[in-house]
Amino acid sequence: MNFPEYRPRRLRRNELFRRMVRETKLSVDDLIYPLFAAAGKGIRKEVPSMPGVYQLSVENLVKDVKEVRSLGIPAILLFGIPAKKDAVGSDACSDKGIVQTAVRAVKDAVPGVMVITDVCFCEYTDHGHCGILTRDGEVDNDATLAILAQSAVTHARAGADMVAPSDMMDGRVAAIRKGLDGEGFQGTPIMSYAAKYASGFYGPFRDAAESTPKSGDRKAYQMDPPNAREALREVALDVREGADIVMVKPALAYLDVIRRVREAFDLPVAAYNVSGEYSIVKAAAKLGWIDGDRVMMEILTGIKRAGADLILTYSARDAARILSE
Ligand code: PBG
Repeated sequence: MNFPEYRPRRLRRNELFRRMVRETKLSVDDLIYPLFAAAGKGIRKEVPSMPGVYQLSVENLVKDVKEVRSLGIPAILLFGIPAKKDAVGSDACSDKGIVQTAVRAVKDAVPGVMVITDVCFCEYTDHGHCGILTRDGEVDNDATLAILAQSAVTHARAGADMVAPSDMMDGRVAAIRKGLDGEGFQGTPIMSYAAKYASGFYGPFRDAAESTPKSGDRKAYQMDPPNAREALREVALDVREGADIVMVKPALAYLDVIRRVREAFDLPVAAYNVSGEYSIVKAAAKLGWIDGDRVMMEILTGIKRAGADLILTYSARDAARILSE
């Protein structure tokens, strides 16, 4: 028998060899944990479609952020669920809004954790769209830019370390950059949801954030899933407008997009392992159909292997525990 010189199995023989030649290493430093701050007191309400994820009033949120910090997770992403929604999403632009209040509380009580805020209007508007509407019910791009910048400034003023616009309006990175700079926040970076697709995987998030649009969908502003070249144009625009980190979202069905963005740009690339990606793993694990922890780690490693430097994930706490074992 004429065996080939190279036998790949030699370096797979045991865990020591496998560890030695491992190409992709997931680290707790890569993880960003999303949290939902709800107006009110004494709230710790599990999201039915996202086991292990909660709507939290500020005092409970602070408790959880302390635990997140003690697990070594360096950063959190905050979403807000306001007491009152209206047509223009006023709470999102108020210094006393739910996210601004949560940021101040976390920055006060938990030093050493990076606080990133999601900048968008869908959680704050009564119609559930990501901006303000024209009379015909379309999202008004340019009118929304002004309030996005205002919202980002209130986040920075509350102490946010970085802002993350997820609205998908054209020109919003430039508008937010200008707004931040004008108020003295030149040092606050922008992580833009640069290539964000109109995805069915956001379903559970909309339960968590109570942000399902009352009518229509987000297809007129979020990207069309079949398009990858367009993602590169979106990212290029955000880079030109001043984004510091660019994000691809969702992650799993868009690993090719993560890879292409990684290859075309030298900025840090983040990927959002979104709510539906989390829920399907949890659900299948609960049914006993898959090993949930193993699949979760495989997914996170795959996202990193595709080219992501950072991963926003509801699995961050579970993953941090496994990584420290
Ligand atoms: C707000 C926003 C959404 C998500 C992050 N920011 C929802 C949406 O666009 O409908 C989704 C996150 C997830 O599914 O985990 N625009």
